[in-house]
Amino acid sequence: MPFDRLPHNSILCVVGARPNFVKIAPIISVLRQTPVVIPPCLIHTGQHYDVEMNNAFFGELGIPEPEVNLEVGSASHAVQTAQIMRRFEPVVEATDPRAVLVVGDVNSTIACALVAAKRGVPVVHVEAGLRSFDRGMPEEINRVLTDQISDLLFTTERSARDNLLREGIDDGRIHFVGNVMIDTLLGNLERAKPARETLERLTATAGRADVEQYAVLTLHRPSNVDRPETLRALVRTFVRISERAPIVFPVHPRTARALEAAGMWEPLRKAPGILTSPPLSYLEMLGLMAKAKLVLTDSGGIQEETTALGVPCLTLRHNTERPVTVEEGTNTVVGTDPRRMLATTEEIFATGGKAGRVPALWDGKAAQRIRTALERHLGDTGTGP
Ligand code: UD1
Repeated sequence: MPFDRLPHNSILCVVGARPNFVKIAPIISVLRQTPVVIPPCLIHTGQHYDVEMNNAFFGELGIPEPEVNLEVGSASHAVQTAQIMRRFEPVVEATDPRAVLVVGDVNSTIACALVAAKRGVPVVHVEAGLRSFDRGMPEEINRVLTDQISDLLFTTERSARDNLLREGIDDGRIHFVGNVMIDTLLGNLERAKPARETLERLTATAGRADVEQYAVLTLHRPSNVDRPETLRALVRTFVRISERAPIVFPVHPRTARALEAAGMWEPLRKAPGILTSPPLSYLEMLGLMAKAKLVLTDSGGIQEETTALGVPCLTLRHNTERPVTVEEGTNTVVGTDPRRMLATTEEIFATGGKAGRVPALWDGKAAQRIRTALERHLGDTGTGP
């Protein structure tokens, strides 16, 4: 790849997987505002590559075409991480960046942070300090390690600073800026596709009756989908919940494969109250969540988005790294026990669920705060090519 034509002295902004796209969009947009002080250069690792997981988001969110796509694709954790590192290092070498900015907690995050740190390039981590305290989650390992080698750590909620201080991170490196994922949500809410249109499209495709009051479900964590018996028990519970209210279920490719392998794809599609679909675009998903009675998920970002939208969320995990969504927001961590899932769902349908409030600094201005801090810390190093 001809990396020598890439801009020098920029901040390399890394994305790899779907949630990264939602987080990078406002950061790139704010850094590109004139006067451009620290030019961004977007690098895609290619961790996610399906059209629905990838291209759809770039178009809708106005993210510029990446300068480089490393095209690593899917593999085991070790191979994927190693491939990203091998392919990212020559980019860093050729561009002599002012910093490498990584977001979230996916394999692309740790891989690129590690390359930068080893080459003495400052690492900026957006969404630092979140902890589930569950090392069985690959993301937790990525979070802890990325934070240890980061020079600037931008946090989304107050609990993150305490976690980082406990791990020995210097307070001067930590900046509580708010939540870039919520910048994107607030900036796009008016453009969101009306839920009615998405529901009409999905019901027509599935040959089903129209849906009015509905729940939305997402599921992709290895702990929920990789073991057939866990997945089967979950699907049986979803079918029971769907007898109370229809469930719209956009299926992650990893989950689709796992459902197939567990023999649960057909039972799920045949359940009259469950409407499956391929992954939805950002604006479709946002419109659908905004009008849902309830969202069931094991995603991290969706716990935050539902809190910002004021929609009840049931987290199908035993912990959350985003405690503010439970303490202040609309989130309830229910785990995967069928009785608890059914009882909590029933309660939410009966009472409307708990009324939450929007956490501090989830106000649409996080990316602007990040730009201000970046200029203060990196702005005077180097004057461009
Ligand atoms: C990754 C992140 C996870 C994040 C999720 C969002 C890690 C460790 N995990 O999980 O934190 O919540 O993205 O979606 O980085 N696949 C496709 N097409 C794609 C991408 C993936 O078919 O475009 C399938 C492949 O079979 C692949 C599997 O999904 O093996 C898993 O993909 P991978 O990128 O390894 O992790 P995710 O489960 O997507």
